[in-house]
Parts: sequence; structure tokens; C-alpha cells
Amino acid sequence: MSKLELGVCYYPEQWDSSRWGDDAARMVEMGLDWVRIAEFTWGLIEPSRGQFQWEWLDEIIDVLGQAGLKVMMSTPTAAPPKWLIDEYPDILPVGPDGRVRGFGSRRHYCFSSDIYLAEAQRIAKEYACRYGKNPFVCAWQIDNEYNDHDSVLSFSNAARTGFQRWLETKYGTINALNETWGTVFWGSTYSAFAQIELPNGLVATPNPTHALDFARYSSDRVRLFNKTQVDVLREHAPGRDITHNFMAGSFEFDHHAVATDLDIVGFDSYPLGNLMGSTLSDEEKRRYLRTGAPDYQGFHCDLYRSQGRGRMWILEQQPGPVDWAAKNPSPAEGMVRLWTWAAFAHGAQAVMFFRWRQANFAQEQYHTALLRSDDSPDQAAIELAQIVKDRATLPPTTRKKASVAMLLDYTSIWAADILPHDNDFPNTHIFREWYAALRVLGVEIDFVGPEDELHGYALIILPQSMIVTTDLSAKLEGSGAKLLIGARSGSKTSQMRTPSNLAPGVLTDLTSVRVVRVESLPDIAEESVRLLDGQKFDFTGWREIVETEANVLARFKSAYCDASPAIIRSDCATYLAMVPRGALLHVIMCNVLEWAGLDLLDCDPDMRVARRGTLHFAFNFGDMSKPLPAGGPRRILIGSDPVNARDFTVWKEN
Ligand code: GAL
Repeated sequence: MSKLELGVCYYPEQWDSSRWGDDAARMVEMGLDWVRIAEFTWGLIEPSRGQFQWEWLDEIIDVLGQAGLKVMMSTPTAAPPKWLIDEYPDILPVGPDGRVRGFGSRRHYCFSSDIYLAEAQRIAKEYACRYGKNPFVCAWQIDNEYNDHDSVLSFSNAARTGFQRWLETKYGTINALNETWGTVFWGSTYSAFAQIELPNGLVATPNPTHALDFARYSSDRVRLFNKTQVDVLREHAPGRDITHNFMAGSFEFDHHAVATDLDIVGFDSYPLGNLMGSTLSDEEKRRYLRTGAPDYQGFHCDLYRSQGRGRMWILEQQPGPVDWAAKNPSPAEGMVRLWTWAAFAHGAQAVMFFRWRQANFAQEQYHTALLRSDDSPDQAAIELAQIVKDRATLPPTTRKKASVAMLLDYTSIWAADILPHDNDFPNTHIFREWYAALRVLGVEIDFVGPEDELHGYALIILPQSMIVTTDLSAKLEGSGAKLLIGARSGSKTSQMRTPSNLAPGVLTDLTSVRVVRVESLPDIAEESVRLLDGQKFDFTGWREIVETEANVLARFKSAYCDASPAIIRSDCATYLAMVPRGALLHVIMCNVLEWAGLDLLDCDPDMRVARRGTLHFAFNFGDMSKPLPAGGPRRILIGSDPVNARDFTVWKEN
């Protein structure tokens, strides 16, 4: 599928059935191809155990299908019904504060509950048996946003016993666990797996290996939950693509692992909703208040496209103001269209808008939609009309493999959260900041996980890979790529211990670096990094004191260990002994791209370029028009040169 497909999230259960026919006709008229339904319908379909009321769902599928729409059916496990919770109250999740999270909204289940796992499998099978071969049901979404409302981690009794079983399988004997965790520290030795508690509510910090194992266990439970339903659908809904909607900014479970079980990696894109929580400066936040940060959606598109092996869909696209952030501004006019084509440029095969009609009751009444609650078209519907026109002018294309890969390892992210050292350590932000620093230079990026094939890239970047196995380091070395390796990489073993040869552990030979001390500095410290050419950049936060015999490209100017190496380059690796940001990060990226033999483009800070097959795109997130980047003769298919403010241009090279 190389032309963009369009769709919408629809909640027929929220509207009188007399409106369904008109809704379906209008969706078709508006150019939509897909309708995603039913992810919160369990309590309506099975109002009491074993009593099913399918008729309304049968009818709406028929109405949509007869109108010419393809249905994406969902398994309804994100919202278990009240009778089930009453029957088995232990299904409810428990927060880190030890309090049970109750019924009355959604995602009120604990991934560790075996009872819930069986119930989810049962209801998925009911849905799959009923609709698996329905000709109008062409794809399936499992559940809804696994980490929404911070629901991946649960500190329930079921989690405790599940974790104990998981540990027993992993370690075999309690002595092996004591040894690996190092429980001799603070005398916390165990004599049986049954003694092990969850790492919440403690007086001081938990043993880090304990905490990391709990994060791994919790992630495994998400994968098991997803896979259990995938298996049901494979059997009863043959030939249909299976997806799940990942979230932006969510790193709590191993998305690489879950993605391997899916056909399409879906994700929900709310570019404005997440702006205020980013590390952008206030000035940048002001600038992008109505457009979203230029790289936020792109980052997730590239991450999930890579995990989806080229198959990435946006299952929910922001249509206007959302209702769930601390403040919810309106996007500038044109942004829904811009985001849609930016997603396409980054490889999206389909974009579905959330949602069809704005609710006029219950939760989410302030969340906009394509239509207002009185059925009048809202701004997103107006932009959709233009998107449909655009689509007719663009030839089918697919994205090619990039030259640069970013390694993102979820375990390393959990590890740095568990042992931060620096309370403001930017952890997940480092990935987005490096990504943005490369994108503003026109670089296309794929993502890889530690299990992935690494061949064929000119440059592989590791913004923060705290845990690197010997397998991964051998693959990095064998890839033949140049490597850019961020601070802390290789600094802990998989057991969360300091490597016997010190950091960067298994990366020592590749980098020719030995980290002899780390420190973290508050913003008030006046320290800097000096490049060989004399350029000086302030820096703060994480710093490593390293020994090396490789080339030193920059040194610290510091009141402590003055002139210690800050940027070190061996034959194939550039190692950073601090976390560069802003102007320093920009200079490093330019230097590294050149070292790797890659072209770079100096884009305007508000502009991003992307390439999909023969199509070139330039997106202008600023409020002034900007010229297209210089290039050969070109034929413009959409837009203009200069690119209008908050608009985009698509062209082909002649
Ligand atoms: C998503 C969720 C949707 C809806 C939406 C509102 O997180 O999957 O069901 O709540 O947010 O923006």
C-alpha cells in the first residue's frame, strides 16, 4: 500500500443508530477509507457473563461496509466490564502508592492478572469468531494504548506472585538471584523467591537489579498479553492485519518486542498535547505552540515505522485541541493537513483521525473531532477535504532505508531511570534531541533495537545505551558503520553492575576509552567544552572523567580535572563524555556526519525536509514563508517555493 489511506475513529455506540447510515455516507463522501471501532465496547456487547448483544455491532459493521468503508475492529480489552471486576476484583491494577485503581474510566486491569489474561483471551475469541471472517472487517487493533494512564506497571498481589515466578524461571535458585542482585548490600539477602516483594513503597531506593528485573518482567507481561490476543486473531481472523496503537513518548515496555508480533505498528499522534512536557526552551515552546515541535511526530513515525518493518499507521491523529494536557491550545489552521502529510513523508501507510464527531456527554467532551457535536464540520474536516485533493496528485511511493540508524534500547532507558545520578538526566529526551539535531541537517533516520540487523548503515548513533551486551557490541563492530556513542553507554552490565573493566565495558576496545569517574553538575556550575579549533560551549549535567589514547577532539574547561577529554574519536567510534545539547550538539552532529561521509543540509530551524521514494517534502513549522532548500531542477506537485508559513511543499526532481 503506497498511497495514503485515510480513516477515522468512530464510536457508533455513542450515537443513536438512526444516524449511522448518514454518518457512513458522509465518511465516504469525505474520502475516508477506514473506520476504527469498538475498542471500549466489552460492557455493551457482554452486559453480563455469557449474555451477548451483538446485534448493534453486526448492524454498524454492515452499514459501514455496505457504504464502502473498511472496518478496523478492535478487541475491547482496554475496558473490562463492571460485572467482571465485581467477580474478580483482583483484576484491578495497583498504583506505585499501593492503592487500587478503581472501575469507572478505562485501563483498569493489571497485566499480571492471569485471570484477566484468560478473560481477555476469551473475549478476543468471541469477537474474532464473530467478525474474523466478516468481509468488511479488514484489520484488527488489539486493546488500546498499553501504557495510557501509566498502566503498564502495577504493584498488585498478582504482580508480586507473577514476578516471583518469573524470577524463579530466570535465576533457578535463590542464591543465584542473591549473587546477581548483590543483596549482600544493605543485608537484604533472601532465602526463598516467595520472600521477594515489589520495588515500590520502600524507605530508600530499591536494589537496582531488583528494579530493573521488575521493569523487564512488567514488559514481558505486556508482550504476553498482546501475543495471547494475536494468537487468537491469527486463528480466527485469517488474512487480516493485526495492529496495536502505541503512544508517543512511551518507553515503559519494550515496543521492539511487542512489534515483532504485529503486522502493522500503529501509533497515536498528538503533536500539540506533548509540547509542554518537552525539553524545548520556553521560546521554542512559544514558537511551536500551535504547530507542535517540528520533530516530535517525525521521531515517533520513524521509530514505529522501523519497528513495523515499514508498516506504520497513525491510528489516531490530533484533529484540533485535545482535552487531556495541562493546557490545550488550538493548532494553527493547516496543521492537521501538514501533520498528515508529514506522517506520510515519514512512511505512514494510513492516517486515521481521532475522532468522527465531538462527544456531547461524558468524558472527552472538550476533545475536538472532524465534526462538532451538532454535525457541522470542524476545521479538521475542512483540511481533510484538502488532504483528499492532495492525495489525488501524488504518485504511489515507499520510503527507502536510511543511511543513519539510531539505536534505542528500552532496557537502557529503564536502567538510567533506576540509577539516575543526575536527577535531571535527560534520558529519553536525549534520543529526541539527537534526532532533532540530525533532522535539522536534513538527515533521514531509521531506528534499530539491540536485536536488529545493523548492516547497511553509514552511521549508527547510540544516544544512551547504558546496557550493551557482547552480542550487540560485536554486531556494532561488524556493521562497518561509524558509531557515535553517547555518555553512559556500556556503563552497566545486563545485571546492572559496573563492568569489571569499568565503563564503557564491552565498548572499551571500540572506543579506546576508560571512564574513571562520573559526576553530575547543577546548572549554576560554570563549565565548558572546548573544541580543538578553540570554540567553547557551556555544558552542564552529566560529565565523565575518561582516560584514552585515541584522538581527543574536545576537552573540558573545568574547575575539576581541567582539560580532561570530552569528545574522543577512535577509528570507528566517536565517544562523548558528556550530554551535549543545543549549539554543541549541532556542531558535533555536523562533524560526525562529515566523518561518516554523509551529506548534510543546513535547514532553517523551522523547516524539515523528508523524502519518500521519488517525492521530496519540505515542511515549514514557522510563521514566515521560507525558501526551499537549494537543489537541481524540480517539479512542484503541491505547494510553492518559498514554502508558505505553516505549510508544506512536495516536489520531484527532474
Ligand atoms: C488516546 C486514546 C483515545 C482518546 C484520545 C484522546 O490516548 O487512545 O481513546 O482518549 O487519547 O486524545
